[in-house]
Formats: sequence, structure tokens, C-alpha cells
Amino acid sequence: MGRFPKVRMRRLRRSAEIRALVEEHRLTVADLIYPLFIHAGREKKQKIEAMPNVYRHSLTDLLRMCEQLSEVGIRAVALFPAIDNNCKDNDGKEAYNPDGLVPRAVRQIKQHFPKLLVITDVALDPYTSHGQDGLIDSDGYVLNEPTVAVLQRQALCHAQAGAEMVAPSDMMDGRIGAIRSILEDNGFTETIIISYAVKYASSFYNPFREAVRSKTLLKGDKRNYQMSPANGNEALREARLDIAEGADVLLVKPAGIYLDIIANLRRNFHVPLFAYQVSGEYVMLKMASRYLVERDCVLESLLAIKRAGAEVVFTYYALDVARWLIDDR
Ligand code: PBG
Repeated sequence: MGRFPKVRMRRLRRSAEIRALVEEHRLTVADLIYPLFIHAGREKKQKIEAMPNVYRHSLTDLLRMCEQLSEVGIRAVALFPAIDNNCKDNDGKEAYNPDGLVPRAVRQIKQHFPKLLVITDVALDPYTSHGQDGLIDSDGYVLNEPTVAVLQRQALCHAQAGAEMVAPSDMMDGRIGAIRSILEDNGFTETIIISYAVKYASSFYNPFREAVRSKTLLKGDKRNYQMSPANGNEALREARLDIAEGADVLLVKPAGIYLDIIANLRRNFHVPLFAYQVSGEYVMLKMASRYLVERDCVLESLLAIKRAGAEVVFTYYALDVARWLIDDR
């Protein structure tokens, strides 16, 4: 019998320097996108009861946030509007108002922070009086093609305002192709489409719905267009379709409890893959911080999402994480 063990796994774990040398994945500030809630009112920022330490920002306070994000090296923001109830209607017409909250915010950011990338959400839920992501019939069923026609106008409106990336999060069939063609037809050949290709009908979105003020309006759920949490293979079909229709980037959402889906997409497709650590995941970590070390758990949760195969993570912790990473240097 030779001496054992020949292979000592612990050799590569001996010191911080050695561990760093053999690290397979590393979380950096370049991996983070900050989702930013905005409102049209005068108050600088509004508290969101369901999301501790996250706020809706006014159009001026938004610039202060962008400044902070830029300072720590965050490269992109994703805008989500809380629309006043009197601007909402059955058809979500406010979604393509060129003087609406989102186009105004985009222009403002581009004017003051030309290098900060702006991602806009393409979906109707902040704009409809019923809180669904699309137009509905008399039974409340979300109609596909009529919704896609509105989403096209919304995406074009965002591109015209200067958004570099539009992110359809509505889950209608055929919307990526339709949005791609209206952008091409209008000369927006460089606008990037981040497709929420794989978006589950998750119960972890509730705090977000309060943030954009759609929660109390929403009757029923979104299960006839968002994916069933029971299905994994279906994610591959969704991804394949959206790539064929012209998506540049795919996004999986939620992130932390769908790591298997992220890993499966990573193995099967060679497109940039983003993941969204959603409001409910944020709140879970926030609430648990009474019993756990928040910073360490947040960093671990994000590293796990990267390890699964996502290049970039949307997270409400982006600013905190960027600061923690700076402190660690
Ligand atoms: C809606 C949308 C949702 C989120 C992003 N876009 C909620 C929903 O589908 O009801 C959720 C994000 C989060 O929970 O942080 N188009």
C-alpha cells in the first residue's frame, strides 16, 4: 500500500492567496445591474413598505442615484415606473407616451450620464388599470397580438428616448420578433433586446408589484402567460424561440431558486445570459439579516447565480455589493 492520500484537495485551499488563484468564478461590479424605481411626483424619494431600503425616486433624485451608481462602477440601470393611477387605463396607452415618465427619465439620464447604460422594461403592468402585463378581453384573459402591437409602440418609444436596451418582460408569444422588426423599420438597428425569455409565474414578485403600484389593481394571477414553476424543459423552448426571433440577451427570472434553469440554458445556448434576483429574493435576504450575516449571504447568493452560468445579475443589492467589493480591495 502506497502512502495515502495522493491527492490532497486541501492543498489548493491552504491560504487566501492560493484560493484566489484557483477561483473559478468571481463576483465583480461589472456583473451588477441596478433596478431603479421612479415616480413622477415632487417628493425626492418614496418609501416602499414591502422593500426595506429600496425607494421610488423622483426624476431629479434619479440623477443623484445615477451619480452614486456611476461612482462605484455600476454600468447599467433598469428603469421601472410607478405610474399615477389617473394615467392608467384599460389599454395602457401611457406606455407609449413620448412625454411619459420612462422616456423623460431616459432622456434625463442620457443627458447627464451618457455612459450609464439604460435598460427599460417593456410590459404593460405599470400602465394598465387592471395590473396585467397586456390588454384583456371581457373575461380578463390577456390577449396576445393586441398586446404585442402595444409593446412594439412602447419599445420604439423607449428607443427613441435613447434607451440602449429594451427588456420585454411580458411573456407574450412572438413579441421579440415583432419588437425587433419595428426597431429595424425605424432605424434602431443597434437597440439591444434583452428578452425575459424565461420568466416564471413566481410568488416572489409581490414586493415589486407594490413598488410599481400594480398590486392592489391586479385581480387573479399571471399564469396564463408566465411559465409554470413546475417546468424546466419548457425553458429551452422559450429560449430557442426568442433567439430565433432576434433577442440579443436572454434573462432568467427569478434567479436563486432557478439555478438549474440558468445552468441548463448556459449549457445549451451561446448567448449572453442575465438573471434577475427578484424583489422576493431581496426581501428574504433582508429579513434574514437579523439572523445571518447579510453581506456574506448576499455575496454568496450572487456568486451562486454566476456559477450557475449567468454573466450579469439584476439585483436590488447592486449598490451595497459594489461598496462591499470596494471595501474588500
Ligand atoms: C412585470 C415585471 C415583474 C417584475 C419585473 N417586471 C412582476 C410581474 O411579472 O408581476 C418582477 C421583478 C421583481 O420582483 O423584482 N412586467
